[in-house]
Amino acid sequence: MNGYGFLLVYLTSSIFSAVAYKSYDGYRVVSVTLPDETAKRQVRDLTNQLGYQPDLLGESHKANHSAHFIIPGKDLGKVKAHFDKNHLQYSVKDINPEIFKQRRRRNALDGDITLADLDNRYLSYEEQMRFLETLAQQFPNRVKLIDIGNTYEGRSLRSVRIGDDGRPKPIVWIDSGTHAREWISYNAALFLIYTLATNPAYQNVLDRVQVVVVPNTNPDGYEYSRNADRLWRKTRSRIQDIRCAGADMNRNYPFFWGTEGVSHSPCSEIFCGVRSMSEVETAALVSAIQREESRIRAYAALHSYGQEILYPWGHTVHKYPADVEDLKRVGNAMSLAIRNVNGSFYKVVNSGDGLYPAAGASDDWAKSRGIKYSFTIELAPIDDETGFALPESRIAATNRDAFAALITLVNTVDREF
Ligand code: ARG
Ligand code: ZN
Repeated sequence: MNGYGFLLVYLTSSIFSAVAYKSYDGYRVVSVTLPDETAKRQVRDLTNQLGYQPDLLGESHKANHSAHFIIPGKDLGKVKAHFDKNHLQYSVKDINPEIFKQRRRRNALDGDITLADLDNRYLSYEEQMRFLETLAQQFPNRVKLIDIGNTYEGRSLRSVRIGDDGRPKPIVWIDSGTHAREWISYNAALFLIYTLATNPAYQNVLDRVQVVVVPNTNPDGYEYSRNADRLWRKTRSRIQDIRCAGADMNRNYPFFWGTEGVSHSPCSEIFCGVRSMSEVETAALVSAIQREESRIRAYAALHSYGQEILYPWGHTVHKYPADVEDLKRVGNAMSLAIRNVNGSFYKVVNSGDGLYPAAGASDDWAKSRGIKYSFTIELAPIDDETGFALPESRIAATNRDAFAALITLVNTVDREF
């Protein structure tokens, strides 16, 4: 290629990567209520009507149990016809335009990132990492940063160890941001790290329990969600000759991999990958956790949205671990702790008993490794009004709700192990 050709390609690609943010013109959000098992079955049957599984944004229990899909306009007629035929109750709305504004509202931050930043804005991956570096410099005895691997695009997968003083202690392991579009989960994890590191009230428990947090388990996906497609969920890996990128890390763990609630087609949002741990990010987390799994007593994956505390098993329906009552008890304690902060309601439910079970998720895999208290926490909001675009004005409160739940988990481990 001659110099001009190169320049042209360079300019076009940089213009497109800077400007083209997927608009979702013509897409609609469809919410359908799920009063009973029959309704759930009928909603699941939508996949056969469409010929693909529509992208499930989330579920909620605000008034009724409902599920929310994003549907391209051309398929809306089919969806309505199917729901009408089955007498399902549903509503159709436009996509909240707020969702596309959040990334543009703020300029990149220079210098140190503060608590106020964490409470008021969504941070880039680079800003998240800078925040951690500053914290580790200020509190070298309390905060240790350990990279556990690299992403497909070469970013660091950073773990943060709090209370790691070389003594063997029980560990609480927290992952967040596996799904790129669930932006609030990153802030909640960073707020947990910040509070444990800086608030002397937690020094006592950290003498006995260690907390390991991987605040951004999918940096490639997150940056893609910030710069190209707000509703991106997966990683950004490529398979040769395949048009669509990425796999759903929460379908990629090696436990009942590929069985239920997954797709084997690479263009699906719930593509489970070509094999378990096909994603380097999943493989890195699996080996980091396995390295010390006998000491890990609790695991929580932070997601959004729906305000739910989900307990295993989630790979199929109506199947529970032998100690399910313990999981429910601690789930309820977390929910109560959240309610005591500011009245938010988080429902404690089995992760397989929602609209779809989902095999190959991290919570099930952690549980299968003998980690007793394994949960997925779906953070705010409770419904699809704003969905993943939780307004920045609500970040601070949600950070504190998540903290209340997670410190309850830490205290449980302190008491029981
Ligand atoms: N919304 C999460 C997902 O779709 C929930 C996963 C819950 N865990 C499970 N094993 N089903 O990945
Ligand atoms: Zn998620």
